[in-house]
Amino acid sequence: MSQRTLVLLKPDAVRRGLVGEIIGRIEAKADWKITALELRTLDKATLETHYAEHQGRPFYEPLVEFMLSGPSVALVVEGERVIEGVRALAGPTDPIAAAPGSIRGDYGTIVRENLIHASDSEESAARELKIFFPDFA
Ligand code: PPS
Repeated sequence: MSQRTLVLLKPDAVRRGLVGEIIGRIEAKADWKITALELRTLDKATLETHYAEHQGRPFYEPLVEFMLSGPSVALVVEGERVIEGVRALAGPTDPIAAAPGSIRGDYGTIVRENLIHASDSEESAARELKIFFPDFA
């Protein structure tokens, strides 16, 4: 089942020079293709829309502040079961709980600075792709 997902390499991944490493893991997967990619400093309005479901939660303000702290890389990735697949590559939200071999398990320690966002369902992917790549067919 071919799918499309929205991936963000967060400001910590860019600052730490891990973009190539993370993209390499995505590109290495059979059948997956990166079909859009942009280095972009996200603005508050975009982040408020993207993280709308988390507004009011204790981590919301620190998360938005962190996401404003430097450029991110936004990507569209397409391919076989890519929504579930990128989340498996990323590992769970808390990097300390993430298994070695996953992106967060290999490179993360702080929950807020967990390197990567990936859409969690087909509905989220459709919504998020429109926010970050509105002109993408
Ligand atoms: S939930 O309850 O499953 O919906 O939440 P979760 O998917 O784990 O987290 C939602 C997003 O919030 C980020 N997050 C945090 N940011 C900063 N600090 C803390 N403590 C924190 N906890 C969760 C988490 O990384 C998710 O962002 P994205 O960009 O989707 O990874």
